[in-house]
Amino acid sequence: MQIAIDGPASAGKSTIAKILANQLGYVYVDTGAMYRVVTLAALQAQIDVNDEAAVTQLLPTIQITFAPGEPVQKVYYNGQDVTEAIRSATVTANVSAVSSYASVRTAMTDLQRSIAQDVGVVMDGRDIGTTVLPQAQVKIFLVASVHERALRRFKENQAKGRNETLAEIEHGVQSRDELDSNRAISPLRKADDAVEVDTTGMTIDAVVQKIQDIITNIT
Ligand code: DC
Repeated sequence: MQIAIDGPASAGKSTIAKILANQLGYVYVDTGAMYRVVTLAALQAQIDVNDEAAVTQLLPTIQITFAPGEPVQKVYYNGQDVTEAIRSATVTANVSAVSSYASVRTAMTDLQRSIAQDVGVVMDGRDIGTTVLPQAQVKIFLVASVHERALRRFKENQAKGRNETLAEIEHGVQSRDELDSNRAISPLRKADDAVEVDTTGMTIDAVVQKIQDIITNIT
């Protein structure tokens, strides 16, 4: 079975997707992490992220792999652990530009589909239900208010000792929503057959329970 979880930045997709995957014994695929690795690779190579041709040239040199980890899945770029590095404010600020390129989207979509070919997956992202796995049996579109999403990210950052203000994070979340929703290729959009879940004011357990109910009803 394939479970697609899409939605805007910081709606809780990865937390929920990971719990569901563990419960179901499926593989969790964090597609946002893949776009973040490409962005990190471009920044490390000192490539201008607005230079589509240069970012495209870099693609064949990038190998992305995952390994189970707590509290988050481990992400590797050419064998190097970049789990923390891909969450930096600089990567976050540049990932929307990099993920808007056709070459990048094709490469990541191919990789995502190949992972989902042989195993059950819970895949989270922006275009999973619409483009990557349009035949997924379960499609969830997770949303939450901008303020609540920014507040969740703010608390996470504080726990990690990062010092962005709430206003800065709120601005970043809003600007990424806008870029991700308005890009030409595979924009963030709810698939017609996806079920929308608004997680504003809901606990993680309540969201997981709600999605489990949706899965039970569908399957
Ligand atoms: O889920 P995230 O915030 O880690 O994703 C980072 C960025 O990657 C997001 O701003 C847009 C892009 N992305 C995408 O274009 N398509 C996906 N399936 C997942 C993420």
